[in-house]
Amino acid sequence: MTPQETKQQQLAEILALAAVIPVVIVEDARHAVPMARALVAGGIRSIEVTLRTSAALDAIRAIAAEVEGAVVGVGTVLDATQLEAARQAGARFAVSPGTSPRLLDAADDNALPLLPGVATASEAMSLLERGYRHLKFFPAVPAGGHKLLGAWASPLPQIRFCPTGGISLTNAADFLALPNVICVGGSWLTPADKLAAGDWAGIELLAREAASLYRPTIAVP
Ligand code: 3PG
Repeated sequence: MTPQETKQQQLAEILALAAVIPVVIVEDARHAVPMARALVAGGIRSIEVTLRTSAALDAIRAIAAEVEGAVVGVGTVLDATQLEAARQAGARFAVSPGTSPRLLDAADDNALPLLPGVATASEAMSLLERGYRHLKFFPAVPAGGHKLLGAWASPLPQIRFCPTGGISLTNAADFLALPNVICVGGSWLTPADKLAAGDWAGIELLAREAASLYRPTIAVP
């Protein structure tokens, strides 16, 4: 296996863990561990902590060290420095909103598997040429929603997508029903008010609802 094939295999396993990957904005690193424990208790194991706050790397470090069953990843990665800092903090996967040639070069040199974002078939084809078989479709709803993503299933059958952006419990099933969707991402499992209030039971409930969403691509016959 090439290094890229190994990373794609790792991504396949991580994205298959649950129907939804929560996209989390952590304002206070002290929230990270109880939040992650609540998500895991609700059946959600892969957690994307976005690099949008100064608490993010500490949050990743804490979850990686302390939360059994969690697979913590880093989101909103824009450059090589962030990718390596997140790997050192214990992230097991990385997500970027789009792609840039320099980020892709950095990802080639880094052991952390990257899930890069695309919004067009041309971007998806460029990444396929570099060995990417798992991509984020972003921003999913504004870019064209499940109808656009579904239209790529026949011409690009090698690619599995994690659509993110504008997805919630009400429309997740539209995406999960597509043959080229492995999971969806969304921030609705960890709303800012519940994090600020320390409402871990509420987050566990949201996780439980999300984890129960049906995924035909993963279902065992
Ligand atoms: C992201 O930040 O990656 C997504 O935009 C999350 O989108 P949502 O807040 O619409 O779920």
